[in-house]
Amino acid sequence: MTKIYNFSAGPAVLPKPALEKAQAELLDYRNSGMSVMELSHRSSLFEEIIEGAESLLRELMGIPENYQVLFLQGGASLQFTMVPLNLIKDGQKALYVNTGSWSKKAAAAAKELGKEVEVIASSEDKKFTYIPEIPLEAIDQDAAYLHITTNNTIEGTAYQKIPNAGKVPIVADMSSNILANDYKVEDFGVIYAGAQKNIGPAGLTVVIIRDDLIGLTSPIAPMLDYQTQAKAHSLYNTPPTFAIYMARLVFEWLKAEGGVPAMLKQDGEKSSLLYEAIKRSKMFESPVDPGSRSITNIPFVTGDAELDKAFVAEATKAGFMNIKGHRSVGGMRASLYNAFPKQGVLDLIQFMETFEKEHGGK
Ligand SMILES: Cc1ncc(COP(=O)(O)O)c(C=O)c1O
Repeated sequence: MTKIYNFSAGPAVLPKPALEKAQAELLDYRNSGMSVMELSHRSSLFEEIIEGAESLLRELMGIPENYQVLFLQGGASLQFTMVPLNLIKDGQKALYVNTGSWSKKAAAAAKELGKEVEVIASSEDKKFTYIPEIPLEAIDQDAAYLHITTNNTIEGTAYQKIPNAGKVPIVADMSSNILANDYKVEDFGVIYAGAQKNIGPAGLTVVIIRDDLIGLTSPIAPMLDYQTQAKAHSLYNTPPTFAIYMARLVFEWLKAEGGVPAMLKQDGEKSSLLYEAIKRSKMFESPVDPGSRSITNIPFVTGDAELDKAFVAEATKAGFMNIKGHRSVGGMRASLYNAFPKQGVLDLIQFMETFEKEHGGK
């Protein structure tokens, strides 16, 4: 097989050592004679897997005792609905910051439930190329929560600093930079993330929620109630067992690599190399405000749709897979999650320089 680099925004590249361990254990997990996929979710072997995954995540993110860790299904998108269902009490409203497609969808899902939603800041005026300032005065202290998207996967922006919301809990969609940025869990009331970027395979959604935010309302169905899930330690029904097992392997790898500080450093280096190359180039540019740039998702464009198309086609042929930008932004996007190798960035930069030389006169 020819060498490829996977720049996908998700499902995304996973650490090779984690995949290799899963491969080695695939048919016979710890001499059980069964695959993890065949284990009962009530078995002691699986209990050890889920407990191990939780305690590693707690250690990696410094999750305090007064927060629950839930392993759910339904993707980050179901959290767009579960958060308002569980957190907004009668007569309360929820505040949202509109920084791109995903935060828009989150706000729309809350509205769909008939909840009062106020968008208190937006970067739509400049095509979501920056993270807006959120002054404390703009935050109604009676609101149920303030929802932010810490990293905007499609637009390539990220919060460099978490806003001060006073006593209003911040709810964060951290799908695309969980375990990459060293945000403090204490700054949030709820953190949620689809696993398929920095955690493991699709099918698992991680929710980290402060105790006092559980049981505020009575959601319409037990499965949608954080209280049900917390009481049952994510085993109310059958959880995505294999995805949780893979997440544990990824967390083990991450810990061995030096944890979140090492990832932040490494992802910072990888993204800086690419941003610097874009800055040096006369062909490529970053649409994102330098003060708001993501270290995990880096869009870049030539400004010419045909040239972008030619770049994507040639890059794909050369083994740089899934480098096409999201259809709403166009151009290219390099997703450089924790498991993405630095060599892939160096090779991409070299490819971009050669492409620029060959197509520079166009
Ligand atoms: C920031 C963000 N939020 C939400 C989603 C939706 O996640 P899911 O497909 O798990 O529902 C994505 C998916 O790419 C995302 O990047």
